[in-house]
Amino acid sequence: MSTRRGLAPGKLVLASHNKGKLREFGGLLAPHGMELVSAGDLGLPEPEETGETFVANASIKALAAAKATGLPALSDDSGLEVAGLGGRPGVRTADWAIRPDGTRDYPAAMARIAAEDSSPDRRCAFVSVLVLAWPDGHVEAFDGRVEGHWIAPPRGTNGFGYDPLFVPEGETLSFGEMTPEQKAQHSHRARAFAALAAGCLETR
Ligand code: IMP
Repeated sequence: MSTRRGLAPGKLVLASHNKGKLREFGGLLAPHGMELVSAGDLGLPEPEETGETFVANASIKALAAAKATGLPALSDDSGLEVAGLGGRPGVRTADWAIRPDGTRDYPAAMARIAAEDSSPDRRCAFVSVLVLAWPDGHVEAFDGRVEGHWIAPPRGTNGFGYDPLFVPEGETLSFGEMTPEQKAQHSHRARAFAALAAGCLETR
C-alpha cells in the first residue's frame, strides 16, 4: 500500500521557468486531469538553487512555489552525470551553460564535456528528481535515471538543453534526434514521472 500523499485533481503549479521542461510536463500530465499553471505565468521569481543535491534543489523550487501560491507545486531538478568526470557537471549542469551575461550557451557546454572527458566509452547518465510540494510544507520526491553515452559532435535539433549530446543505452538516435514521444520512452524525467503518477496521481 502506498504511503504517498495523493494529489487531488485541480490546479498544479509547475515550478519551472525552463520551456523545455514545461513542454515535457504538459505531455506527461495530460492524462491526469490537472489544471497546469506555470511559475512564470504567475510572475513567481526563480529561487536560488543553493542545494548540493538534486532533491535539495527540487525541494527549494517546489516549496517556494507552493508557499507563494497556496497551491500544490511540482518541480524538477535534473542534470547530466559524466562517468569520466566523476559525475560532473551533475547539479551544476545548468551552470556549465551560463554565459557572463546570464544567457545560456548549450553548444559551448556540450563542447566542454567533449573537451574534458577523455574516457574511451563516454558513459554518462541523465538524472531527474521531481518534487511535489504542498503549501503546508509536505513534500514527496521521485527520481529517474537513464544511462547512455555522449557524442561529438552533438546531433539533432529537437528537445532542449543537452539533448543533442546524449544517446540512451541500446539506441542510436540522440535525444535531440528523437520525437517527444520517443524521448519519453527513455527519459529520466518520464521515469521519475511514472513513479510520481503511480504514487500520487489519479489516471483519467
Ligand atoms: P536545473 O534547471 O537546475 O534542473 O538544470 C538542469 C540542467 O540540465 C539544464 O541545463 C538542462 O538543460 C539540463 N537538462 C535536464 N534535463 C534535460 C533533458 O531532458 N534534456 C537536455 N538537457 C537537460
